[in-house]
Amino acid sequence: MKVLLIGSGGREHALAWKLSQSELVTELVCAPGNAGIAEVAAIVPVAADDIIGIVALVQSGGFDFVVVGPEQPLALGLVDVLQEMDIKVFGPTEAAAQLESSKAFTKELCTRYNIPTAAYGVFTELKEAKAYLKTMKPPYVLKADGLAAGKGVVLPETRKEAEAELEEFFSGKFGDASQTVVIEEFMSGQEVSFFAVSDGITALPLIGAQDHKRAYDGDKGPNTGGMGAYSPTPVFDDKALALVMDKIIQPTIHGMAKDGHPFVGVLFAGLMMTPEGPKLIEYNARFGDPECQVLMRRLQSDLMEIFIAAEDGNLDKLKAPGWFDEPVVNVVLASKGYPGNYRKGGQIKGIDKANDMDGVVVFHASTKLNDKGVVCAAGGRVLNITAQASSLENAVAKAYKAIDEVIKWPGGFCRRDIAHHALK
Ligand code: AMP
Ligand code: GLY
Repeated sequence: MKVLLIGSGGREHALAWKLSQSELVTELVCAPGNAGIAEVAAIVPVAADDIIGIVALVQSGGFDFVVVGPEQPLALGLVDVLQEMDIKVFGPTEAAAQLESSKAFTKELCTRYNIPTAAYGVFTELKEAKAYLKTMKPPYVLKADGLAAGKGVVLPETRKEAEAELEEFFSGKFGDASQTVVIEEFMSGQEVSFFAVSDGITALPLIGAQDHKRAYDGDKGPNTGGMGAYSPTPVFDDKALALVMDKIIQPTIHGMAKDGHPFVGVLFAGLMMTPEGPKLIEYNARFGDPECQVLMRRLQSDLMEIFIAAEDGNLDKLKAPGWFDEPVVNVVLASKGYPGNYRKGGQIKGIDKANDMDGVVVFHASTKLNDKGVVCAAGGRVLNITAQASSLENAVAKAYKAIDEVIKWPGGFCRRDIAHHALK
């Protein structure tokens, strides 16, 4: 099959790496890709959110199958357009992708289908939102309804701060995304990212992972796209997985189908493992980044087979995927300054040598080759150092050894405590 993968992050490098190992994939093209993806796929300079450009590429490229990585093209309806062109595509339609693109949509679905999540209110008027705040206890949880690149959630400690935030939300802090605001009850516990693939009817469980959203050690500092991940995680055992499938994932897939927009693709449940059991924080309609990278390294089975079965509506006939038991960690190397301002263009050396280390695979999150063919930083999150070993401790040690002794990038930084929840 000739496959087109959409995206350019570490998630897409991991997907491309895994797809390139599939016997079902004869040719792999990625738009727009990055310097690492270019080693396993042909790359084409069409942006992931350039729907017209992607349609033109698909029309001229003779692709048999399209895989969509990031959320923006899903929310823009790329899957709908490709389906109208009779192209096989893995990913949810615009209506189904509302599970990620509208928090209010998801909360309402949870209410109707009895899916455990935080109590909430949805507001389009400042006055009503402020009145609701008075009924809640701190810390307050305020969310922009729409997509805000992972930054649309704030957790003010006092009502005064919360009111000030609400004012900013409604005066367009996140543009249209914050014209509707969700206010939620605060949930405490450890967070888990869990992934399932669905064909619209059947949900196939994948595995769980833990992400590190804050920029600095000790879970301090601003929220980021994610600074590292690992899997498996002790807080998400087989029992928790079965419970989440039964109480959260299955009712969601059933509800989406019943409501007329069946969900085909990867359903990413952000979960809080509360004392009362797992509750849904939010859904994403795609793989997580940096979680996907650890999932792909633990996956034994053919990824393309899973995508094809989901697109064909045949997941019920697919054998459960196999997973390596050995833990995998992913430490993100980011540009100094991220998630604030940072400099692009610094040269990075030693990636090949790191890849030669036993158990280490480096995925590129945002890189470009300069005119001398040297890999350069091209964004905030730049590299993902993944390592697999017989224990999580060893995997973590290996990833940091690659970072400290092999990779040379003065402009980068990473968190030093990835997987700390499981190691302490
Ligand atoms: P979200 O974008 O909805 O995943 O929220 C971003 C982060 O905010 C989550 O990963 C949690 O750490 C935190 N968060 C969101 N909702 C809640 C909640 N109801 N209670 C506690 N923390 C939350
Ligand atoms: N790592 C969280 C996300 O992909 O949204």
